[in-house]
Amino acid sequence: LAACGTPEEKGSDTETNKEEEKKTLRVVTDAAYAPMEYQDKGEVVGFDIDFVKAVAEEAGYELEIEHVGWDPIFVEIGGNRADLAVSSITINDDRKQTYDFSVPYFQSTNKILVPEGSDIKSAEDLKGKKVAVQNGTTGQMAMDALLGKNHEDIKKFEDNNLAIMEMESGGADAVVADNMIVEEYAKNNPDKNLTVVEDGTFESEFYGVLFPKDSELVDEVNTAINAILANGTYSEIYQKWFGN
Ligand code: ARG
Repeated sequence: LAACGTPEEKGSDTETNKEEEKKTLRVVTDAAYAPMEYQDKGEVVGFDIDFVKAVAEEAGYELEIEHVGWDPIFVEIGGNRADLAVSSITINDDRKQTYDFSVPYFQSTNKILVPEGSDIKSAEDLKGKKVAVQNGTTGQMAMDALLGKNHEDIKKFEDNNLAIMEMESGGADAVVADNMIVEEYAKNNPDKNLTVVEDGTFESEFYGVLFPKDSELVDEVNTAINAILANGTYSEIYQKWFGN
C-alpha cells in the first residue's frame, strides 16, 4: 500500500531502519556479587552492569541482561545461547581453552573474610579450618591449591551469598572471594562484626568479558572497552561505585 513513499517518508524510513539495526545482545550474569552485579528491587545493577551498558552504547548494541547464576553462565555461553557474560569473571588459561575473553577491564584479588577476633590472620592460617567458597570460582581454585583438591574443609556453594551465610551460621570459619565483594560486605554489615584479612599472598587477577569461543564480537567489544577507558566513561562509572 505505501510502496511508493515520498522522499520525506523515505527519510523517516531510513531512520527507523537505523534504529532497528541496533542488534540486541543477550548478556548473562550471576547477580549475587555486590557491588559488581546484584539485584536491587528485581533489577540487575552494579559496576559490571554499568560497564557493559557503556560498552554496548559505544559499540551500538542494545542489551538484554539476565541473571542466570554462576554455573549457568558457562553453560549459556558454551552453548552459544548468550552473546556475552559479565560477572567479575577472571581471565585464566583454563577458561581461555573453552571461551574467549575481552581485554582485561578490572583488577582484583582473592581476600579472606572472617568474623572479628578470628585467629585467621593469613592464608596459611586457613589450614585446618573450614572455608566457604563459591563453586567454580578462583576462590575455590585458590583453596584447592592451598588445602588440596576436594578437601573436606572446602565448602562449596552455588552462590557466594550462601557461602557467606554458611560462615555466619558457624558452618565455616572463613569465606574466600574477590576483594571488592568481601570488603563491601564487611563495610555494609557493621552489625555482623566481620573483617577482611590483609594478606597479599593471593595472585592478582583481571576480569574480562566472556564470549563463546571465536565470537565475532570480541574485536568490537575490545574497541569499545578501549574507547570508554580513553574517553573518561570508565572512570565515571568507577567513581560512581568505588569513589568516596
Ligand atoms: N573472579 C572470580 C572468578 O572468576 C569470582 C567471580 C564470581 N562472580 C560472580 N558474579 N559470582 O572465578
